[in-house]
Amino acid sequence: MIDKQSPIPIYHQLEEYIKQLIENGILKPDEAIPSEREYSEQYQISRMTVRQALNNLVNDGYLYRQKGRGTFVNKQKVEQKLQGLTSFTEDMKERGMVPSSRLISFEIIPAEPQLARKLDIKENTPVYEIKRVRMADNLPMALETSYLPANLVKGLTEEIINKSLYQHIEEKLSLTISEATQQIEASIAKDTEVSHLQVESGSPVLLIVRTSFLQDGTTFELVKSAYRADRYKFVHTMQRAA
Ligand code: GLP
Repeated sequence: MIDKQSPIPIYHQLEEYIKQLIENGILKPDEAIPSEREYSEQYQISRMTVRQALNNLVNDGYLYRQKGRGTFVNKQKVEQKLQGLTSFTEDMKERGMVPSSRLISFEIIPAEPQLARKLDIKENTPVYEIKRVRMADNLPMALETSYLPANLVKGLTEEIINKSLYQHIEEKLSLTISEATQQIEASIAKDTEVSHLQVESGSPVLLIVRTSFLQDGTTFELVKSAYRADRYKFVHTMQRAA
């Protein structure tokens, strides 16, 4: 598998090889991988080369290191398609994972000017502010803060919030969720995100801001989420204009 005659750098070949073993499930999550020394002896390559391959795989979230214990296989990232307007609950269920939420705070606040503008409501209109850690198989995936006009998305309770907002909106309130605009940017976890997402300080997160609309064009939510970049990736298909 390592071709020393190839123009492809050896570290990159090793990196791709280990990646394949992870993607094909031959190396399993939390399994220890061979040490730098073992790789270097097995393939007759320098330890520097092995280190570079492993460092890249750690940075890309395929592997993680534990001081004094070695290097292990990370859980595969959840792949989120950028087509279709779906809820967190639907996304995780579709992947065979069990969604859950940990409620951090839940209150009604008067909309300050900027929030009022984004939700297209009058200043000081009562708005639900909901902070939740969204989990999949009991692992924190995202820290999410949602703002919803209280006179539109009526009757929210802790029980509903711990399940699915979208389900309540569609099934209980019979409102039709129609479309959303979403913006995604890279950032570094802030202190609150570090503690709620259980990541080390300095870890990368994906910040997502979604504004969602009902069929009649009414804005029903503004949501700010910080997703763990080591557990989440976004994928979309593109078509070249004819
Ligand atoms: C995702 C979106 C949010 C949306 C949420 C609804 O997390 N980023 O904008 O509010 O899904 O999820 P659920 O119906 O599980 O509460």
